[in-house]
Amino acid sequence: MKIGVFDSGLGGLTVVQAMTQIIKGAKIFYIADTQHAPYGEKTQEQILQYAFNITEYFLNTYEIDALIIACNTATSAAVKALRETYPELIIIGTEPGIKPAMEQTKTGKVGVLATPATLQGDKYQQLANSLAMQKDVTLFEQACPGLVEQIEQGKIDHPQTQEMLEAWLHPMRENDVDTVVLGCTHYPLVADMIEKIMQRELNLIHTGEAIAKRLLVLGEEKGHKNEGELTLAIYSTDSIATHLVSGIIGKEVEVEAIVL
Ligand code: DGL
Repeated sequence: MKIGVFDSGLGGLTVVQAMTQIIKGAKIFYIADTQHAPYGEKTQEQILQYAFNITEYFLNTYEIDALIIACNTATSAAVKALRETYPELIIIGTEPGIKPAMEQTKTGKVGVLATPATLQGDKYQQLANSLAMQKDVTLFEQACPGLVEQIEQGKIDHPQTQEMLEAWLHPMRENDVDTVVLGCTHYPLVADMIEKIMQRELNLIHTGEAIAKRLLVLGEEKGHKNEGELTLAIYSTDSIATHLVSGIIGKEVEVEAIVL
């Protein structure tokens, strides 16, 4: 199985990391579209265009069997159109895990951190509205403009990042939130700081493992044998913090520059 995975930068590697624990006998091609990061502060039309360019590139260059949109923002803007255009391709998107969060919260208070584009998108609004009708849980939604840039610049354990997160998390801490949805694939990279600021045992929800498991099921339906070596090639459309890439994946990896 050949799998194309993309995000605006480092974030989608948190999904790739989960995939490497579950998927075998496959080739993963990852594109960090750093030239256009952050996606979360672009228009829906721009994000749609980036997603289509990358998918075309994956199909033309590697003839992929599966596409993983390792980005909540790009999923919100493009998954529907991509599925309509490429019905043969396995396409798995990333969505904020508010459903499991609502099931798991004990205080009935759930925080959702995501990019401005994800929270404003119809997809999120519909999901949140339909779940709100099923369960009496209060959602504390917070857009985090600028956080993706901090992470891309490697400012993960940095006073400025801490200051931003403290302001966003303050209402959640004051209101007894016990479960926080990491609705952007970059945010698991600041999970330690979020836990520190919340000052309580916190349930952090991110969806990398669920995506990897779903890929396994859909791949096996199409004849994928989950055995043998897994290879990973990483490409970037502009500069990227290479040391962070290796840190997330857990081994030394090369990043190759590409032009789409
Ligand atoms: N990592 C992405 C997400 O899950 C996008 C971040 C961005 O470029 O704004 O939403």
